[in-house]
Amino acid sequence: MEAADVGIGAVAGGGEGERSSSSSSSDDEASPTAAARRLLSTRGFTRITYVHIHECEDFSMGVFCFPAGATLPLHDHPRMVVLSKLLYGSMRVSSYDWVTAPRSGTRKGVGAVPRSGGNIHTLTAVTPCALLDVHAPPYAEDLGRSSTCFSDMPVPALPGYAVLEEAELPEDFRVVGAPYVGPELLVDVDWYD
Ligand SMILES: [Fe+2]
Repeated sequence: MEAADVGIGAVAGGGEGERSSSSSSSDDEASPTAAARRLLSTRGFTRITYVHIHECEDFSMGVFCFPAGATLPLHDHPRMVVLSKLLYGSMRVSSYDWVTAPRSGTRKGVGAVPRSGGNIHTLTAVTPCALLDVHAPPYAEDLGRSSTCFSDMPVPALPGYAVLEEAELPEDFRVVGAPYVGPELLVDVDWYD
């Protein structure tokens, strides 16, 4: 799976073969190999941009495109499995798992460097990059599947551990949307009972 497979055209340090279909970009050079493809040029993105590809009751799929230095704050994915693949660029990921049950009242507990999946994570783009994300099942607030943001405070006496506390999203944080222009998705799911 590469960026072009989901209609994403930006390639860090390269860019050969891109064909822009984004109205926000004037870069419209088409190479013979890309002529048949519609690619969204993400070069000019200055904010984290989500390209939504698909959602059904079983999963959702999309691509987060990051400008260099952008961060998705620490957040969780309760009752979901998250599969992520970096399509291009370089990204720093820190993740935690709960090691004690959240206390009553506020959602506060102790996280640790991941031992079973790291379902609480923060992502920072080192270079412009794109991340394919699959959430299974998808977000559903009424079913207890919504993200919460956290702050993390290292525990000096326990290297690798931190206290996580529910936090507000940073005020200037915003994810914008961009259209999916890649190949049509055909979904054929066989579930094993
Ligand atoms: Fe996430």
